[in-house]
Amino acid sequence: MIWIQSFLKNFSQIFNLFLLVILFPILIDCSSENESPKKEPPPPPAVTVPFPEAMYVQNGCVSCHGPVGNGRGTRTALLANSRIPNFQDKSTYIYGSTKEAIAKTIKNGIPGTYMKAYSHMRKGEIDAIADYVQKMQR
Ligand code: HEC
Repeated sequence: MIWIQSFLKNFSQIFNLFLLVILFPILIDCSSENESPKKEPPPPPAVTVPFPEAMYVQNGCVSCHGPVGNGRGTRTALLANSRIPNFQDKSTYIYGSTKEAIAKTIKNGIPGTYMKAYSHMRKGEIDAIADYVQKMQR
């Protein structure tokens, strides 16, 4: 019986050694694998600089006001009975042609007309589009 005891003792020693030599490094390796995403480069920062021309198109301004702002977009049929300003000609604005006035019109819209309020847009975005509209003026 003694040899069994000594075998078991030896076995448990060998097993402990196995744990130490084989499993421990594996465990450490696994845990460092979990941390590895931290070593990856950080994601690029969110684009906070508005791209005015793209926003003028994406928000549909272009469809009513036209690519050059003269009111000749793809929705001329819809606007057949509406007044539509010519962004190039300051005298055709009735709500103001300054950047601030244009931004205010974009934010609040013009009630009762096809010019809806873009109140969901961030101030920086509205300002950028207003600037873009103002630059169409001649
Ligand atoms: C569905 C068509 C439509 C869309 C889309 C549209 N507009 Fe208009 N917008 C109009 C109409 C029509 C008017 C004139 C309303 C009136 O006074 O009768 C107008 C008026 C304006 C004015 C006021 C000009 C003035 O007379 O002082 C500004 C500035 C303007 N739009 C900018 C924009 C911008 C910028 C966008 C996009 C974010 C936009 N609009 C989207 C139809 C549209």
